[in-house]
Amino acid sequence: MSLEKFPRYGQEKRLLHGGDYNPDQWLKYPQVLADDLELMKDARANAFSVGIFAWSALEPEEGRFEFDWLDKIVDDIAGIGAKAIIATPSGARPAWLSKKYPEVLRVNARRERQLHGGRHNHCQSSPAYREKVGIINRKLAQRYGSHPALLMWHVSNEYSGHCHCPLCQENFRAWLEKKYKTIDVLNDAYWSAFWSHTYGDFSQVESPSPIGESMVHALNLDWNRFVTDITIDFYRHEAAPLREISPDVPITTNFMGELSQPWQSHPFAGLDYAKFAHEVDVVSWDSYPPWHNDYETTENLASRLAFVNDYFRALKNAPFLILESTPSAVNWHPVNKAKRPGMHMLSAVACLAHGADAIMYFQWRKSRGSSEKFHGAVVDHDGSRENRVFKDVKAVGEMLERVSEIKGSLTPARVALVYDVENFWALSDAQGFDNGDKKYPQTAHAHYKAFWDANVPVDVIPADRDLSRYDLVVAPMPYMTSDARIEALKAYVAGGGILVATYFLGIVDENDLVHPGGFPAGLREVFGINVLETDTLYPKDKNRIAFGGGSYDAFDYCALVELRGARAIGEYANDFYAGSPAATAHDYGKGRAYFIGARTGGDFLRGFYGEILRGMKLPELPVQVPAGVSAQVRESESHRYCFVMNYREEEGGFALKQEARDLISGRTFPRGEHRLIPYGVRIFKTEKTIEA
Ligand code: GLA
Ligand code: ZN
Repeated sequence: MSLEKFPRYGQEKRLLHGGDYNPDQWLKYPQVLADDLELMKDARANAFSVGIFAWSALEPEEGRFEFDWLDKIVDDIAGIGAKAIIATPSGARPAWLSKKYPEVLRVNARRERQLHGGRHNHCQSSPAYREKVGIINRKLAQRYGSHPALLMWHVSNEYSGHCHCPLCQENFRAWLEKKYKTIDVLNDAYWSAFWSHTYGDFSQVESPSPIGESMVHALNLDWNRFVTDITIDFYRHEAAPLREISPDVPITTNFMGELSQPWQSHPFAGLDYAKFAHEVDVVSWDSYPPWHNDYETTENLASRLAFVNDYFRALKNAPFLILESTPSAVNWHPVNKAKRPGMHMLSAVACLAHGADAIMYFQWRKSRGSSEKFHGAVVDHDGSRENRVFKDVKAVGEMLERVSEIKGSLTPARVALVYDVENFWALSDAQGFDNGDKKYPQTAHAHYKAFWDANVPVDVIPADRDLSRYDLVVAPMPYMTSDARIEALKAYVAGGGILVATYFLGIVDENDLVHPGGFPAGLREVFGINVLETDTLYPKDKNRIAFGGGSYDAFDYCALVELRGARAIGEYANDFYAGSPAATAHDYGKGRAYFIGARTGGDFLRGFYGEILRGMKLPELPVQVPAGVSAQVRESESHRYCFVMNYREEEGGFALKQEARDLISGRTFPRGEHRLIPYGVRIFKTEKTIEA
């Protein structure tokens, strides 16, 4: 982000700490609001997102606006030296609006119009909604756009979902017509002669529906793309008055990550954030990992969280904001467990280590009523600063003040792992292979984990990003590869890059049409292989791979490969393809392309990538850590910050290769072995080059 464009934002040198503040729930309790200010100072909180769901308080009746209460809140925030991140209120609307303009109510995929209620559920096409949102956003910009406390705009809240109303159908058809020009081109892209799905003209196209069309994969893809585009269009509409009136104030909207289930470690899949990221000035996301769950190690969950952090950082190759997180438990995981002592600090540092410049919470003070009254908050129902959660938050606030010089520093990743939501959409639609779950995010995470285990920083990137910055690019299950992507991969390897791809390489194009002529389409020359078949295994079945002197499990998928220039570096041990290549390497141009034919466990991946990493000569870390203790690096122009995090429930340790100062404790540690308490953290500052 260019800080010249946003001078006030650039002048803010603190790491942000604070969160969603909903004083509109407490306007009848002035003492509570007065207490909040004292508690905020005590918690070392310096930034508050206000007004997120305050539309009813700001415009209680159509055209009657009440800003006095918000004036006071923003002034009070300024009064304690904190910053306001003012939200546009479109995430939830007042009842009068739905009543008078029912077109704002969403229609679901079954074509049922929803009643007023909940939130995040308006029609993005509705002219009435756009008009009302435009009016209130303009008023907010006029009133607060030059307020000294305003740090950033927070547009809406967690955009998600879709509407299938007649207005949205019209917009979808117009979107299709713009894309395809003629219905013939659309029919070709949709392979619509299948089951007699040929359209006569655009007016016959309907959005996918469980009671209608759901199996034309290219239609599903286009609908997902349209949903992203109409959401971005709505966002632009919201942002327009803010940009016009306060061009010097940056804009964000809070993205989401999926971590609450064991199989999830990915950004929210309902929108293509790769596209959306171009529209915001700062990327931010809401992070809710289920710490202390009963199905994985803390360290594994930390690596899932890191994957999502690395995705959001890489979207703009810049620090991002954790705009929401919980200081204790949420209220919507299957089981909502309190953070154990030490976890709040560790989970904050876990995000800083991967590029966050803010640790913010949902929410400042617990609501007394309604669905989130038991969701963790900084201030509990007791209103006390003496309870464990408040003290933990304060400790994080103090830590952030001590380490603020890390702000703006970047992650020096030379490895990229491609995670692409369009590929996820296409794989989820594919009927065949294992219909239970194609496990794309799980596979991406499994490959990522091999680098995490080696403490190697990774950018998790969408498929359309520039690859030339990286020494190694990993593309797990790159099923959907357009001709443009094929060319980009080719050019990357030809130019000297190392590329690793797996089974499901180069199967369909951007319309989900199978590439004709065999696999990997357009890349056989690069990989030096021809994929003959892909065997799908039952969950209880396994094959084995002989690789590098060891033997490893292969499961779920085994691609059968014929060598066309590549050399086999691993072979299957069993079944009718015993002895045939399971992994290959091929030199192409100045680079090399590896193919992994089967799904494998972490043991194989660690061995496989370990070998490649040894050849890459990455800069050495100033510390050595055992398993369960993670080390990550950020760099400023002059310094390196090394984050050491003990994700074990027991004591851990690390060895410093040189004397270094820990910014958190302020202590200088000599070279040599050191202990770390369970969940213990350190942030070491060193010069960029390691002294011998
Ligand atoms: C989301 C929302 C918040 C709140 C939290 C609860 O992130 O944006 O308003 O509901 O979830 O975890
Ligand atoms: Zn609609």
